[in-house]
Amino acid sequence: MKKEILQALQSVSQIPLEEYMLERPAHAQLGDFALPCFPFARVLRKSPVAIAEEIVASVKHPLIKRAEAVNGYVNLFLNREVIAHTLIQTILQQSASFGSTNEGDGGVVSIDLSSPNIAKPFSMGHLRSTVIGNSIALLLDKNGYTPVKINYIGDWGTQFGKLLTAYRKWGNEEDVRQAPIETLLRLYIRFHEEAEKDSSLNDEGRAAFKALEDGDTDALALWDWFKTESLKEFQRIYDLLGVTFDSYNGEAYYNNKMEPVVQELEDKGLLVESDGAMVVELEEGMPPCLIKKSDGATLYATRDLAAAIDRKNKYDFVKSVYVVGNEQSLHFTQVKEVLGKLGHEWAKTIVHVPFGLILQGGKKMSTRKGKIVLLEKVLKEAIELAKKNIKEKNPTLAHQSEVAEAVGVGAVLFSDLKQHRKHDIEFNLETMLQVEGETGPYVQYANARAHSILRRVGEIDSFTINEVNDHEWETIKLLEQFPQAVKRAADDLDPSIIAKYAIDLAQAFNSFYGNVQVLTDHGNLPYRAALIETVTIVLTESMRLLGMQSPKEM
Ligand code: ARG
Repeated sequence: MKKEILQALQSVSQIPLEEYMLERPAHAQLGDFALPCFPFARVLRKSPVAIAEEIVASVKHPLIKRAEAVNGYVNLFLNREVIAHTLIQTILQQSASFGSTNEGDGGVVSIDLSSPNIAKPFSMGHLRSTVIGNSIALLLDKNGYTPVKINYIGDWGTQFGKLLTAYRKWGNEEDVRQAPIETLLRLYIRFHEEAEKDSSLNDEGRAAFKALEDGDTDALALWDWFKTESLKEFQRIYDLLGVTFDSYNGEAYYNNKMEPVVQELEDKGLLVESDGAMVVELEEGMPPCLIKKSDGATLYATRDLAAAIDRKNKYDFVKSVYVVGNEQSLHFTQVKEVLGKLGHEWAKTIVHVPFGLILQGGKKMSTRKGKIVLLEKVLKEAIELAKKNIKEKNPTLAHQSEVAEAVGVGAVLFSDLKQHRKHDIEFNLETMLQVEGETGPYVQYANARAHSILRRVGEIDSFTINEVNDHEWETIKLLEQFPQAVKRAADDLDPSIIAKYAIDLAQAFNSFYGNVQVLTDHGNLPYRAALIETVTIVLTESMRLLGMQSPKEM
C-alpha cells in the first residue's frame, strides 16, 4: 500500500522518494500518511508550501481519497472503503496463509534450541531457548524456509564423572526411577558439598569421566540410563509446550566425530600448545579457543566445531542458528572464528541468537545450590491458576482443562516472547496470567471474544462497505501490516515483533468492538462480521507463530 502511494506521489513530483519519507501522522485528522516537503525545497528551488500545493493539485490514485496541503505537508487521506474491502477479501481467501512468503525458497535453516543438560533440571534458560527457537522455526517456515530443529542435548562432559561417582557412593536405583532429575541433582549437589571437605573426590570424579570416555561398559550403561530417564522427564515439558524436534543429536553424538576436526586444525597449523593444552589462537583481544585439555580430553568448543561441520554436511543449511543465552556469546564467536580459519566460507552464516536471563525477585535462578524452581512445577502452577480463574469467571465453560492448559502455558510463553529476547525478564506468574495488560491471555481472550461474536452472527456470504469509521480503520491498518511484521520477525529472528503486533491488534479490536454497535446495526453487520473474522484469522495465526494455542471459547 505504502509503495503504491509513493509511486503516485513520485509520478507527480519528480522527486525520488524513499519509504521513510512518508510519515504516519499521530492523529487521524492529519490523514493516513503525510509527506513533509521541506527536504525538497533546495533541489526544486521552490518553497515547501508551493511544492505541497503542486503535488496536491495533481496527485491521483484509486487508493487516495483526498490530499490536502497544510504548511508544507501533503496530508493524504486514503480511500478506506476500497482498501478495507480488498484487504478483507484477501484475508478471508488466504486464511492462515495470509502473510506467508516464499522468501526462503526452501533453504534449510538449522536451529539449535532447547539443549538441556541431562541429569540437571530443565532451567528457565532452556525454556527461553525452547520457546524462542520454536517460534523462530515457525516464522522461518512461514517465510518459505525449511527449519530443522536440533535439540543438542548436554549429555557429555566432566560433570558425568562426578555424577557417576556420587551415584555409586550414595545413590540407589529406586530413587532415580521415581524422580530421576531431582535425585540426580541432589547427588550432584552432594558431590560438590562433600568435595569441598574432601578434595580427593574430585580426582575420583575425573577418573570416572576418563573411564566413561574410554568406553567402560559399566560407566556407559549407567550414563545411558541417566540419559533415558532424564529425556523422559524433558519430554513431559515438551508435550506441555507442544514443541517437537527433528534431531536429538547431543554432545555425546560427536564423540567419534571430533578427531578429524582436531586433525584438520593440526594439519593447517592452527593448533598450538599453551600450558599443556591445545588451543587455536584468535584475533587480538579474544581468548584462545580451547580444543584439548592437557589430559587429552576434548571440550565443549571441540564438540560444537564437530557439530557445526556435521550439520553443514548433513543439511547444507543456508543459515545455522543457535538460540543460547547471552553468557555464551564468547563461545559462539570463538567457534565461528575457528571455522573461518579452517577456510569454511559458510562460517559467516552461523548466527548466535542470544537472550537474557529470567529473574525472580531481581535474581538469577541458580541450579547449583539447590535453589531451583523446577520448570514443570511452574507450568503446572500456571495451568492451575488459569483453571481457578475459569472456575470463577466462566464456570459453565466446556473443556475447562484443555482451555486452562492453553491459557496457562500460553501465558508463560507470551510473557517470554513479548520482550526483546536480549532483555532479562522478571518472572511473575500472577501478572502473566492477567487478562488485562500485555499478556498472552489478553490476546487469547480477544480472539475468543471475536469467535463468540461470530457464533452469534452466523454465516455471512457477502458484504459491502459504506463507510469505515476511525475505530475500524485502526484495526484494518493493523491487519494490513501483518505481512510486514511476519517478514521483519523472520529477518530479525525476533518473535517479539509478532507478540507486540498481536497485542496491538487485540487492543484495536477491543476498542473497535467497545465503541461500535456491531450486533444491533444490521446494515453494517455483514461487513463488520467479515472484519471480525479477519481479526480472528490474523490473531490465531499470530499466536500459532508464537507457539501458542488459541481457544475459541474461554
Ligand atoms: N547444553 C548447553 C547448556 O545448557 C547449551 C547448548 C547450546 N548449544 C550448543 N550448540 N552449544 O548450557
